[in-house]
Amino acid sequence: MNNQEEKFIKVYPNSETASLYVAGRIASLIVKKSELGQKTVLGLATGATPKLVYKELIRLHQYEGLSFKSVVTFNLDEYYPMQAVDEQSYRSFMNVNLFNHVDMPSENIHIPDGTLNLEAVQAHCALYEKKIQDFGGLDLQLLGIGRTGHIGFNEPGSLVHSTTRLVHLNDLTISDAIADFGGKEHVPSQAITMGVKTITQAKEIILLALSQRKADIIQQALEGGISSHIPASFLQQFKNVEYVLDQEAASQLATNYCSAVTNP
Ligand code: GLP
Repeated sequence: MNNQEEKFIKVYPNSETASLYVAGRIASLIVKKSELGQKTVLGLATGATPKLVYKELIRLHQYEGLSFKSVVTFNLDEYYPMQAVDEQSYRSFMNVNLFNHVDMPSENIHIPDGTLNLEAVQAHCALYEKKIQDFGGLDLQLLGIGRTGHIGFNEPGSLVHSTTRLVHLNDLTISDAIADFGGKEHVPSQAITMGVKTITQAKEIILLALSQRKADIIQQALEGGISSHIPASFLQQFKNVEYVLDQEAASQLATNYCSAVTNP
C-alpha cells in the first residue's frame, strides 16, 4: 500500500476485542437503519474468522434486545456441489453460528445454492446479483481473507469486475478445508461466490483478519501491489474499506498500527 495513512486499519490486541468491535459496528447499523424504518442488508462471511462476531451478535439479540427482523442477508459463497443440509455447507454453518439463534425471518436469508444442476447455475448467479440490487445493494459486507488472498471464493486470477459465478478452488484453499471435510477427497473443488465487483459495491466493507496464519497474506494484500494474484488487494482501490486486525495478523505490516486503536 503506497499511502498507508489514508487506509482505515484498526489493530486490536486480540481476536476477542477485534470481533467485539465488528459486532458493535454491525449492531449499530441495524439499530440506526431500523429506527429509520429501513432494512439493513448485510453481506456475510463464513470460516473461523467471523465466529466470535456472530457469537456477540447472538448475545446482543438474547440479552440486549437487538432485533434482526429488519435484517436481510446475502452470504458470500457456498461450495458446489453442496447439499444445504450437509454439515459442511455454508448454509449449515450460518444456521449453527447465527441464524438459528436470532429472529431473522427465513425469507430474508440468501445463500448461493450449491444443489443446482450445472445448467441452472448461471441464471441463479444472475438472480443473486439482481436480488442484492432489488434490496438497494449491500449496506455492509463482512469479509475474511483466505491464505491465497481470496475474498469470498474469489481466488487468484479473479477480476475486479467479476460478479457472482461458479469458480474453481485453489489448492491451498482446498488443503485449508481438509480439516472441516475430513479428507482432501471430500473437499469440493468448486464454489459459487459473489464476485469482486459484487463485494466492492457494498456501501461499507469490513475485512476481519485474525491470527498469525493471516499475517503474511495481510501484508501482501494491504502493502503489496494491486493485482488479481491477490484478489483482496483490489480493496486498496476503494475508500469504503476498513481492515480490522488482531495484533498477530498485523504483525508483518511495515507500519505499526498497534496504537491506532484508542477508541474501540
Ligand atoms: C473460506 C471462505 C472465505 C473466508 C476464508 C477464510 O474460504 N470462503 O469467505 O474468508 O475461508 O477462512 P477462515 O476465516 O476460516 O480463515
